[in-house]
Amino acid sequence: MKRPSVYVTRMLPETALELLREYCDVEVNPEDRVLERDELLVKVRGRDAVLCLLTDTIDDQVFAAAGPQCKIFANYAVGFNNIDVAAATRRGIFVSNTPDVLTEATADLAWTLLFSAARRVVEADKFLRDGKYQGWGPMLLLGQDITGKTLGVIGTGRIGSNFAAKAKGFRMRVLYNDIQPNPDFEAQTGGVFTDKETLLKQADFVSLHVPLLPSTQHLISTPELKLMKKTAVLINTSRGPVVDEKALAQALQTGEIWAAGLDVFENEPAVEPALLACDNAVLLPHIASATIETRTNMGLIAARNILAAIQGEVPPNLVNKELAGR
Ligand code: DGY
Repeated sequence: MKRPSVYVTRMLPETALELLREYCDVEVNPEDRVLERDELLVKVRGRDAVLCLLTDTIDDQVFAAAGPQCKIFANYAVGFNNIDVAAATRRGIFVSNTPDVLTEATADLAWTLLFSAARRVVEADKFLRDGKYQGWGPMLLLGQDITGKTLGVIGTGRIGSNFAAKAKGFRMRVLYNDIQPNPDFEAQTGGVFTDKETLLKQADFVSLHVPLLPSTQHLISTPELKLMKKTAVLINTSRGPVVDEKALAQALQTGEIWAAGLDVFENEPAVEPALLACDNAVLLPHIASATIETRTNMGLIAARNILAAIQGEVPPNLVNKELAGR
């Protein structure tokens, strides 16, 4: 019997590829780079499954290029805003993602950003390496306290909830906002539901955990930044376009807010030049899920979704759930 053909758009941890190779013929992009559009269109042709990344734009043209035999595009990410899910559904192609396994790592990185930005860790490290350290100083690199402060969490899915639950150790008051109150979040974190405006006015730290949707595009822009405390820190580990980068850079430069910690950007891999010039911004290259264990597990989940689809089963992490009952 002919083995199913799977294309993987970029090199991944080997464990996931080994699992796929047990059952399928697997071709992997040998270069550690995003495929050009025309390469992608050629490489997906005739495949039974494609393992793609958040850096690949997967739209109807890609599904058409893959062909009617293609069963699944398994995204190596929990977010799937890079995929036209409606187009996949119209063509009967499954789309899957990698939830749960990256929750802890992503929440941990949001805390890393919070601490780094509040306590000026990156700035302090640079100061020392630049040979500027002349000895302990009472006014040297003063930051913001964290313990006992108010944490504002926008978006209470898996990652937002996990992030907020970790605030208990720092005896923080948690405020949250979402499209509706979330009793599970409250039970897990002791958080109090507030409107966005109150949260922005009262929180010392605001952390964003929403998916990228038309309604969350530029959720934080000039009016929102103006509501925040001058001592506040903004953290974004969700998707870049949720924050208006130009407005944020201006708020950081003028002291409208104290600092920001960002793992995601509006036009990755490009970063707004004005942000690069802000010492009070900690900027990371989208590494929230980048631990060895998490990236391996993401690969295994994507592989399992592919194997299920190829065997005619519903993938465990199906995004377009309308296809589950067909
Ligand atoms: C995701 O999974 O959506 C993250 O942004 C990358 O791991």
